[in-house]
Amino acid sequence: MNGIMDISAVRNDFPILRKTEGVYLDSACQSLRPDSVIKAISEYYEDFPSCGGRSVYGMSAKVSLVTDETREKAAEFFGTDDPDCYIFTKNCTEGINTVARGIKFRKGEAVVTTDTEHNSNHVPWIVLSEGSGVKRRYSRSDDDGEFNIENFKEVMGKDVRLVSLHHASNVTGCVVPIRDIAEIAHDAGAEVLVDGSQAAPHMKIDLEKADVDYYSLSAHKMLGPSGMGLLYGKKECLNSLRPLTAGGGAVGLASYDKADLAPVPDRFEAGLQNYSGIAGTKAALEYLEKVGMDDIYDHGRRLMRSIFKRTEGIEGLSAVGPKDPDRRCAAFSFNIEGLSPHDIAMMLDKMDNIMIRSGMHCAHPFFSSRGIEGSARASVYLYNNEKDIERFATALGKAAEAFGNR
Ligand code: ALA
Repeated sequence: MNGIMDISAVRNDFPILRKTEGVYLDSACQSLRPDSVIKAISEYYEDFPSCGGRSVYGMSAKVSLVTDETREKAAEFFGTDDPDCYIFTKNCTEGINTVARGIKFRKGEAVVTTDTEHNSNHVPWIVLSEGSGVKRRYSRSDDDGEFNIENFKEVMGKDVRLVSLHHASNVTGCVVPIRDIAEIAHDAGAEVLVDGSQAAPHMKIDLEKADVDYYSLSAHKMLGPSGMGLLYGKKECLNSLRPLTAGGGAVGLASYDKADLAPVPDRFEAGLQNYSGIAGTKAALEYLEKVGMDDIYDHGRRLMRSIFKRTEGIEGLSAVGPKDPDRRCAAFSFNIEGLSPHDIAMMLDKMDNIMIRSGMHCAHPFFSSRGIEGSARASVYLYNNEKDIERFATALGKAAEAFGNR
């Protein structure tokens, strides 16, 4: 598709939207899946339910072929040449842990994050620093969550081994300029890992141009199967990374005393893999490609503008994050005076089957550093339409009027 997306056609591709009148606004947590992804998953179980990369019979060769094709699709989708730079993981968190545990950090080296990370890109660094002598520093974002590049430069130094930050915040939707970060980090001799879980579903990403060393994402936030993720790494980085797990399929030859690691990417994929998930991931990338990432990005912006416009008159509503919808990547976090976020979420569910998330969205340090107890969050994706936003705003207005502190 080119230009304006055909939202009705898109919606019709999602079985859950054909079945329910509900409004799904929790895609930042997990997206819905189209028919083609579900079909690819079932096809694996129905037509070639065997292992990949091991046996030589035809059915197993088909699994290996789909696995290779998925890596090729990922390389093409993210603007890189070498499919072997993509490792299958179970989610973005596992990709980040692969890097956190795989780099041979030395005592006194530092990892820089921001104060706006979700736990996937926060807890692994706490665990790493405990007892290892690896230091942690974070770059303070502006009060509204906007990334502040001057603050980032201040925390950089020659001791920094790795910069690990989100591409887009799952709370405020603010986007970090990863190309600039890579330049600053590389000048300081550091590598860069990007948590792309919130950005990759919504924008065209060219990893070659971004020049980051690692990029981790969750496929289940971008129409792919549950429990699937991808970790991209530059070949030279992956070659020196210690694998998170060891076992069959990840070695060349093993003797009683020694095992030679298989080449990248196999060395990172020990044991049998989630083959149906791999097949579904390919279908998800193909679907996104067919609709067009630029159109998906524009659609998300239109919906964010509409949310701001339709909710501006609601008494007691305050947005968490920038007030400019164009600065938010598909996530609208907010509070209503007198109502807890969980109350808001439950009311919307009961009033009109509207599904939003509430709480701290796994980004605890962001909320506690700003003295905010949590928020409700509506997050949009390519299948949401104006009617969804209208229903959301109408129900929210009624809840605020009836139960908020006006
Ligand atoms: N980080 C995920 C979210 O924002 C789980 O909902």
